Amino acid sequence: MHKHDVDTPALLLDLDAVETNIRTMAEFLAGKPASLRPHFKTPKCPEVARRQLEAGAIGITVAKLGEAEVLADAGLGPILMANEVVGPQKIDRLMALLSRGVDITVAVESAFNIQELADGAKRSGQRPAAIIEVDSGMHRCGTAEPRETVELARALVDAGIEYRGIMGYEGHAVLIADEEERREKTEAALAIVQEHVEALAEAGLPAGIVSVGGTGSHEIAATHPHVTELQAGSYVFMDGRYQEVLPRRFQGALTLLTTVLSVRDRYAVADAGMKSLTNEFGPPFSVDGGVKVARLSEEHATLTGEGIASLRPGDRIEVVPSHGDTTLNLHDRYHVVRGDEVVDEWPILAARKFK
Ligand SMILES: Cc1ncc(COP(=O)(O)O)c(C=O)c1O
Repeated sequence: MHKHDVDTPALLLDLDAVETNIRTMAEFLAGKPASLRPHFKTPKCPEVARRQLEAGAIGITVAKLGEAEVLADAGLGPILMANEVVGPQKIDRLMALLSRGVDITVAVESAFNIQELADGAKRSGQRPAAIIEVDSGMHRCGTAEPRETVELARALVDAGIEYRGIMGYEGHAVLIADEEERREKTEAALAIVQEHVEALAEAGLPAGIVSVGGTGSHEIAATHPHVTELQAGSYVFMDGRYQEVLPRRFQGALTLLTTVLSVRDRYAVADAGMKSLTNEFGPPFSVDGGVKVARLSEEHATLTGEGIASLRPGDRIEVVPSHGDTTLNLHDRYHVVRGDEVVDEWPILAARKFK
């Protein structure tokens, strides 16, 4: 089937681009000290994670237990959860994964949470493994001072939880378009992580895992002292925002196919609204750049730009989501294409797994 014959709105995934991106990252990291544990929050699809592991990834990073459960069902891992697991229901789900033999490491950043893990371990007879999340400047979760990190590492050991290292995510730096500024902010963030690594080593609690890095910082993080692995995720699809920030190394793989419903003098309207496309990272554009999604209502996209002059109702347009992760989270499947041909359909099994 030709890709434009798919019913809309629908996600198209360019398999050549996905394969190229996976290969490009593997080649870039070959011989470098850091390995890749790609973030599953981007593809949310075991078919993609399997290809990343086949290309040499040492495991998969996730944000949510629901994503970890999808990977575990597909037999993929080892899993690093770059997020805290808080609350008794989630602690029990974590213990259930461990009881299935899943190799999963979770992030912690408070004594409260370590106690929760210890209590869960006692209830279930399992032994969880954890890394400590460090705030390297994003000011989301994470310890502020190396002293706090050392205390938490000690608390993990005392509680009988397997202490595996630390993580930091420089999310405040990865999307900075100016290369110099991005490098500066990334290096400052990684220097903070390094202080924590050194304090842990001095305290006799060396960090085995030092996990950092997004797509926008992978180059710098890959050779930074002490970094053992990267969490980059977006590189595999390269959404519109990332194509602006890093226009060269990786290729855009994800588009949303839409149908034109209406053409008026100064605008046209297509059948993708905020229930199938997001725009918090700015207006999505058509692949050829001639049409811009100026506005979204629930089920309609208002299109502007010079490209609308040639549009007719019924035409198909491929739009590049500005934020791929939140757009694909609204969908259930990728229509996988090679060139213009649809060659497969992959379920997005972890879509909306936000628990
Ligand atoms: C903790 C964490 N690590 C890694 C990433 C991956 O970053 P990127 O999308 O830049 O590849 C994210 C992105 O949200 C994240 O939250």
